[in-house]
Amino acid sequence: MKIVAGGASPLLASRLATLLKTELAKTTYREFPDGELYVKIEGIEEEDVIVVQSINTNNDLVQLLLIFDALTNRAESIVAVIPYMGYARQDKLFSEGEAISIRAVARLIESYVDKVVTVNIHSKEAMGYFKKLIHLDAMPLLGKFYEGRSITMISPDLGSLERVRVAAAHAKCRFDYLEKTRLDEETVVIKPKELGVKNEDVVIVDDIISTGKTIAEAAKLVLEAGARSVECACVHAVLAKQALNRLYSAGVRRVVATDTVEKPISEISVAELIASALKS
Ligand code: R5P
Repeated sequence: MKIVAGGASPLLASRLATLLKTELAKTTYREFPDGELYVKIEGIEEEDVIVVQSINTNNDLVQLLLIFDALTNRAESIVAVIPYMGYARQDKLFSEGEAISIRAVARLIESYVDKVVTVNIHSKEAMGYFKKLIHLDAMPLLGKFYEGRSITMISPDLGSLERVRVAAAHAKCRFDYLEKTRLDEETVVIKPKELGVKNEDVVIVDDIISTGKTIAEAAKLVLEAGARSVECACVHAVLAKQALNRLYSAGVRRVVATDTVEKPISEISVAELIASALKS
């Protein structure tokens, strides 16, 4: 068995290789002057292959398809570990005529692989478009990271409430939620609410931080409600468009994420979670 580390997930792939006591295949990734991608995978000979590649950009998706193609007729089986499944937020028709992006991505990926492993895909609807999916929950890991600290966890919206309930159970702390309305991809409004966080240390927990506007807005309300401090934690640190600056400027003291998307704030690793799923 070999592991192919996609360009988006080299650290997680090497952590998995260590845990599974297996080797990383030799890979070459290049970009041509016109932006097209080039992929070469060496040393695969009729064996099982685990490909590890998060989809955080369009190039990540194209590179993944080229990796699958490079493995054609060489891999006995392919398991695609896609720790962050991009495009999952477009999981239904929000208006007539749209693409259901995750449906297209699911079809494409599953046409090449035997199994797909992912972590906290955005919604049950998105999950429903896969037939070969093994779905893993990193919320217990986020919770354990805070175990022993006297905090209150806050979900910025109803959609993340169930996730935050799980994290809070593992952190052994209390939790509450806010109610967010998204006006468009750049604008969120959160209803003020009695939170009972006066003089509390608060951690806002979400599945994804993209622009950071959701957490920044939630942090503002939490601080206005008298919290002593605000931190935030997420599974997927997508961090588009100056998100970290936005969060720190909103008064968030610390931002923590897993390594599903590899960023300097990826302090929590999902490698053991994925390795045990692959072993079983
Ligand atoms: C939305 O439903 C998700 O759970 C996140 O709250 C959202 O993706 C965060 O996006 P942003 O950081 O751009 O506000």
